[in-house]
Amino acid sequence: MRRAVVERTEKNHIGFGKIILFGEHFVVHGAEALVAGIDEYTSCRLELTKGQPGICVVDGRPAVPGYIVEKAEEQRLAHRLVFRHLNIDTSVDGVRIHLGGPLVPTSGIGASASDVVSLSRALSEMYGLDLTEDEVNLSAFVGEGGYHGTPSGADNTAATFGGLISYRRVNGVSNFSRVLITRPLFLVVCSTGITTSTTKVVGEIRELKENNPTWFNALLERYNACVGEAKAAMEVGNLFRMGELMNENHKLCQELTVSCAELDTIVNFCCENGALGAKMSGTGRGGLVVALAADEAQRDGIADAVRQRCPAAKFVWKYTVCPRSAKI
Ligand code: MEV
Repeated sequence: MRRAVVERTEKNHIGFGKIILFGEHFVVHGAEALVAGIDEYTSCRLELTKGQPGICVVDGRPAVPGYIVEKAEEQRLAHRLVFRHLNIDTSVDGVRIHLGGPLVPTSGIGASASDVVSLSRALSEMYGLDLTEDEVNLSAFVGEGGYHGTPSGADNTAATFGGLISYRRVNGVSNFSRVLITRPLFLVVCSTGITTSTTKVVGEIRELKENNPTWFNALLERYNACVGEAKAAMEVGNLFRMGELMNENHKLCQELTVSCAELDTIVNFCCENGALGAKMSGTGRGGLVVALAADEAQRDGIADAVRQRCPAAKFVWKYTVCPRSAKI
């Protein structure tokens, strides 16, 4: 069992948020998805509670109403899984976890992964573990089990490494690789405020596929062409083409029946107000929209317009994906 080597952490330990840019649902059926670790993050600071056992959390993250309370039980489990994985004993001296940072936790933004990545990094300092990036990623994957049961590994990978990442699931195993981009991506992310069950929607799409494989395979083929081109466009910094392909991916999500009126309204509004492209992101039938802007100023203008004139968007955030080269 490990003992603390410092009584409080000094460094800023962070885990990035994430957003799916291409491929939700299609990735479940073997296609490639593109996920971005956004620069906005959760940060974690730790204090040893000498003579007071156990783990307590002071959660100072700027969450949407209800989120932190709703997730408190899963978070407790996730944190315990991380402590156990890293072989840390809190039965004599406990740990107080302070969470903060600019990332606003909500469904679909990888908040739980950013929490356990930042915690794993902070524990590495406090207990002198010297964790590598891969070990941080693994620790967070174990922690993610507390939130998700069977995580795909995409969120913790994006939260650890940031930047643009390609991923594909083959026979239940997730494979990740770095996509090198040359310029930052400026994004507006909007929430419909509608929460949906990923398990339920994924199950319904599976049933639709089984009932009509010809229809599904035709969509999958179009999606494969779309993501192949999108990856190439991103690698050469062709944001205009990337935007068009986001629109195409949204159309495919509509045909797959995972969009909804609120998502379509926000997507259309963003495009009418200057976005290069926009699409739903994540489970769908509610949840999030991601829109791509040409630059920071345009992104800020789109976000202001959505806030003022698009009531379907209940929350609006401005995010950035920076080029990162760390190997995955
Ligand atoms: C949910 O955020 C993304 C889905 O593709 C499900 C998954 O990848 O596990 C809908």
